[in-house]
Amino acid sequence: MSPIRGLDRVGLLGGGVIGGGWAARFLLNGVDVTLYDPDPESPRKVGEVVANARRAFAKLTMAPLPAEGTLTFVQSPEEAVVGVDFVQESAPERLDVKRAILGRASAAAAPSVVFGSSTSGLLPTEIQQGMTSPERLVVGHPFNPVYLLPLVEICGGASTSEAAKARAVEVYSAIGMRPLVLGKEIDGFVADRLLEALWREALWLVNDGIATTEQIDDAIRFGAGLRWSFMGTFLVYRIAGGEAGMRHFMAQFGPALKWPWTKLMDVPELTDELVDHIVEQSDEQADGRSIRELEALRDDCLVAVMQGLRSADYGAGTVLADYERALFDRSPVPDEQPNADGPLLTHTTRIPSDWVDYNGHTNDSRYAQLSCDASDAFLRRIGMDAEYLGNGHSWFTVESHISYLAQSGAGDAVYVTTQVLSFDPKRLHVFNRMHLAADDTLMATGEHLYLHVDTEAGKAVPAPDDMLERIAAVATPHAKLDQPVQAGRFVGAPRR
Ligand SMILES: NC(=O)c1ccc[n+]([C@@H]2O[C@H](COP(=O)([O-])OP(=O)(O)OC[C@H]3O[C@@H](n4cnc5c(N)ncnc54)[C@H](O)[C@@H]3O)[C@@H](O)[C@H]2O)c1
Repeated sequence: MSPIRGLDRVGLLGGGVIGGGWAARFLLNGVDVTLYDPDPESPRKVGEVVANARRAFAKLTMAPLPAEGTLTFVQSPEEAVVGVDFVQESAPERLDVKRAILGRASAAAAPSVVFGSSTSGLLPTEIQQGMTSPERLVVGHPFNPVYLLPLVEICGGASTSEAAKARAVEVYSAIGMRPLVLGKEIDGFVADRLLEALWREALWLVNDGIATTEQIDDAIRFGAGLRWSFMGTFLVYRIAGGEAGMRHFMAQFGPALKWPWTKLMDVPELTDELVDHIVEQSDEQADGRSIRELEALRDDCLVAVMQGLRSADYGAGTVLADYERALFDRSPVPDEQPNADGPLLTHTTRIPSDWVDYNGHTNDSRYAQLSCDASDAFLRRIGMDAEYLGNGHSWFTVESHISYLAQSGAGDAVYVTTQVLSFDPKRLHVFNRMHLAADDTLMATGEHLYLHVDTEAGKAVPAPDDMLERIAAVATPHAKLDQPVQAGRFVGAPRR
């Protein structure tokens, strides 16, 4: 069972660049995937995209990801949609191919199952013709890499129902995306129309010998590209209008639109010579890096941008923060407890590769993070969920002590247990033991004191009775356990 209600399994039609990206996004969100692609190489290709995505997700978030879904390859579109809760089609961009595959799959799927099409520019009214129950077809146009970029444009055709669009919004949001519902059907939708205008202009600049491919990329990435990633274009120009705002900006730069700056309406002839020229310059830019190396570089940069924006709680950073809150809320407290009355198993994970320092060992600070993640799981267990936090209450850390006992390294499976040492209505004192899963070695311990606070008033207040009861249910058997030897320790250097 996936942790997302009503989304246990999806059917994917097509497993190329985009279908592979969808597979990765669903699998990493704990959803099972059944995939049909006639290419016998598809399992290898999808496997490579999923491996890229795993690597990117390990860097993107420390929120607890669910157990990965399972990936099953099948031999026909009909088999791909049996028992699924949603279908995403990512077959080649040809109307006849899409109609054929959607016709077959929709005849086999349960009538209530909604279909998303990844098409970059075909109209949904055209695509849905020939489907059984065509009202359930929406365009769900993603961006590459699908597993990292949040945007998905949703567009209905003439027969699409509002319920189908609403279901698509629900599905895409649940896997961390940012749906943009378009009111009107239009070739290329919104994002690709904008991108194509820029692309056409860039081709002209190369064709006319004005700039190299590298100069054009530099003109974007050191300037407007940085702004685009969080404010788009209108808000940026509003700021550029200064105190007088957008009206002033329009008045000042409006006339320039009529100057012969752009050749937007024409397309340069894609002669062999022009294509060769672009390919040559583009190879030079790649500087010998393979496609996989370039993808990894792109993913690392995207992760850096999204994490930076998260700290500003803006744009794609807000989408990431909301997604992480949902991951925390969905993450189950492990229910397989080693000992009913003993310390609680609160957290299991693997040491990510970027936690390791120059000695090849997990960096000191990461043990504090592991211990805090376990405490967070315990706090969720006693009722500190998103709604509770939103209502202005929380538990704040006031003191911590970590003891380092053994080393760990990248990829090691680890688990953490939590023992309640004491509590009162405003205070909670816990002790976490961090173990290597392979042989149960105790590698570190963390002791923490938390205060229950009213976050708006900024002061400690008693926790509500139901929360205190949940703490008591754990603390009562824990009171009979031995006091851990590291509890109450401080840094034991001789005092001067
Ligand atoms: N590449 C992008 O940047 C991008 C971005 C957004 C949307 N899209 C859209 O996504 C769709 C897929 O594009 P892509 O880039 O993944 O192409 P792709 O060529 O990488 O993948 C297409 C896959 O479909 C498979 N296929 C061929 N015939 C099929 C059939 N009858 N049934 C099922 N699968 C079949 C192919 O074997 C291939 O693996 C297109 O509609 C495209 O417009 C692409």
